Amino acid sequence: MARTPIPLIDPYARLVKDLRISITDRCNFRCTYCMPEEGMKWIGREELLSFEELARIASVCVERYAFDAIRITGGEPLVRAHVVRLIEMLAVLGVDLAMTTNGVKLPEVAHDLARAGLSRVNISLDSLRRETFLALTRRDELDRVLAGIDAAIEAGLKPVKINAVVMRSINDDEIVDLARFARDKGVGMRFIEFMPLDADSMWSHDKVVPAREILDRINDVFPLKTVAIPGSGHTQPAERFEYADGNGDVGVIASVTEPFCDNCDRVRITAEGKFRTCLFALNEFDLRAELRTGAGLDAPDLDDRLATVIVSAVGTKWAGHRIGQVNFIRPDRSMSQIGG
Ligand code: 5AD
Ligand code: SF4
Repeated sequence: MARTPIPLIDPYARLVKDLRISITDRCNFRCTYCMPEEGMKWIGREELLSFEELARIASVCVERYAFDAIRITGGEPLVRAHVVRLIEMLAVLGVDLAMTTNGVKLPEVAHDLARAGLSRVNISLDSLRRETFLALTRRDELDRVLAGIDAAIEAGLKPVKINAVVMRSINDDEIVDLARFARDKGVGMRFIEFMPLDADSMWSHDKVVPAREILDRINDVFPLKTVAIPGSGHTQPAERFEYADGNGDVGVIASVTEPFCDNCDRVRITAEGKFRTCLFALNEFDLRAELRTGAGLDAPDLDDRLATVIVSAVGTKWAGHRIGQVNFIRPDRSMSQIGG
């Protein structure tokens, strides 16, 4: 008999309902704000959760705890073989199914992803200048990413959103150009404050361009309505503002200057099956151990055991991270290892 899902509430009375699944820590880019150029230690193939294992965790979250959103992340999720198959397996859960990608493989796979049931996609694009793009990602792939954005639009993935991490003196002079690009294409634009999750530890406070400053710079050229779109901030971290001329909206993710932790509804699974309750969490809960013990996926009590780990992990979800405060502790993993 199907059970009625029960809401999963954390110690700060927040409803937990958004699952982010990292499916690989590998990437075909080496963005400076994420990875070192060389020397990353990759998770071994046998340590990665299989698609069946991932789907099993996802179904526990959706069927027992009424999660309503799943996002596939990496590393770069599209470097993992047969991703389309995973999308098909997760699409049957009937929730909002999204992916965050660097876009470089989208020209080949956007249509298959859409057909398999992917709802929407966020594509990272931090610069429209070839040299800056190359310096930031350490790959000369701007044109393919632009083609990937077009492919996503053509495939009917909706909405297509562009994510740009803004770093002072690196790409902050492109804020208005990126906003214009997204307006012209009719896609969403999200500017993200640079967070201390880079493997090279080049993060510093003075490289963070505050969301307010980003909005001011856009507003000077494309006037924005003064009041944020209501409801934003609750189910998504971006604070969104409509353009006064009615031509779409723009969002800022003020993870550093105005953390959205009070409204956080997310939890994460790393590619090797560790459950995390925050990007910046210092502890992890091992779901893979449950998946691989005894009869593995055939164990009759597997769902109960996964549920027990998930519930006890959510019981440790903290009020919020403390970037910028003296007692902030950097996690010892980078974004690509946790899942963006
Ligand atoms: N600060 C902010 N955003 C980051 N991302 C990766 N590293 C960082 C960081 N240090 C973003 C990428 C992408 C998503 C996966 O995470 O730009 O949009
Ligand atoms: Fe790859 Fe994304 Fe990290 Fe860039 S930010 S190196 S695209 S995982």
